[in-house]
Amino acid sequence: MRRLEHDPIYLDHNATTPVDPRVLETMLPYLQAGFGNPSSEHAYAAAPQLAVGHARSQVARLVGAAPAEIVFLGSGSEADATAIRGVVTGALRAGVRRPHIMTQQTEHPAVLAAFEYAEQFHGAELTILPVDRDGLLKPQGLRSAIRPTTVLVSVMHANNETGVIQSIRELAAVAHEHGALFHTDAAQTAGKIPLDVKDLGVDLLSLVGHKMYAPKGIAALYVRAGTRLEPLIGGGGQERGLRAGTENVPYIVALGAAAAIAADDLAAGASDRLAELRDDLERELMMHLPGRVHRNGHRDRRLPQTLNISIDGAAGHAILAACTQVAASTGSACHSGLHSPSPVLLAMGLPPERGLSALRLTLGRWTTGADVGQAAAALVRAVHAVTAVPQEVP
Ligand SMILES: Cc1ncc(COP(=O)(O)O)c(C=O)c1O
Repeated sequence: MRRLEHDPIYLDHNATTPVDPRVLETMLPYLQAGFGNPSSEHAYAAAPQLAVGHARSQVARLVGAAPAEIVFLGSGSEADATAIRGVVTGALRAGVRRPHIMTQQTEHPAVLAAFEYAEQFHGAELTILPVDRDGLLKPQGLRSAIRPTTVLVSVMHANNETGVIQSIRELAAVAHEHGALFHTDAAQTAGKIPLDVKDLGVDLLSLVGHKMYAPKGIAALYVRAGTRLEPLIGGGGQERGLRAGTENVPYIVALGAAAAIAADDLAAGASDRLAELRDDLERELMMHLPGRVHRNGHRDRRLPQTLNISIDGAAGHAILAACTQVAASTGSACHSGLHSPSPVLLAMGLPPERGLSALRLTLGRWTTGADVGQAAAALVRAVHAVTAVPQEVP
């Protein structure tokens, strides 16, 4: 997929990915002749029904699940909410009076909001565990806070800002030792690194189309066979009663195609190529801004295509504003012109200045070595521009 000459270099793949042209080609027929409702009882249902089934198998294969364990829904936020609130309401129905649920501080707002709603609307008790300076949650921290009434632990697979990959296998084992279910938000890992639900030992896993070269507005939830979950949305009984709504066939087909392409790419070593490029980018920045660049998050336990750094003496938003050749993000929030540091970096115990000077640079399928070289040079120029000491006019 080619970038037009004057377009900025896109280094924001953790925010969203472009749609792979092969994915687009596969989904288009279902916006045209294959438009039928899969639940209809006439000839127009056949092709969409088959296509949804095929997509379900493709997504299942990417994560090592059975097709019947995959539920399609409308977004990553919906997948997280369905998993978290669905377990809580399921526990209430089973007679647990005040279900206790646990997560950690650097989760995506989709998970944190689902926790707050579970408390507000369903009377759940919450524990939100701290992470260490590398962004990791220690299994021992989970073990010491888990209770007999804990029904669910939800810990993201990799963080969207830092790329830090949590020890899901160990954390899920602790949850299971205590009889709790385990959910992981794998929005940032599905398609980027190999993952297998059985190897991880999770009961529920969210994955998101627009992080893996499918369109926005489609996601999937892995629900291990036998997991007790109440639906958030009722109606026509689609998706085994777990998510009502006429299936978004073209987008489901797109997610299936994206999963199949990602599986092939991973088998061909795509993540090693990206890790090399990411390391080149980090090296270039460190070399040209000596002593000023600090990596945020664990050195090794991070996504291959994610670089989160802070640059001494320069605010992230100012660097990006001065660097129109690169599209990236900071993780900090801006309200009425005032910038506040990323809550993820603050939760890791980093000082506010370091949070404010952070840049998140995330590579993707079509990022080249030339892109990395040009982006590094442009960022270095921008850092010098925003930290230049004004010369006094004589
Ligand atoms: C880790 C993580 N979880 C959940 C989401 C939410 O996905 P969606 O935008 O599809 O609701 C995102 C997207 O930014 C994410 O990065």
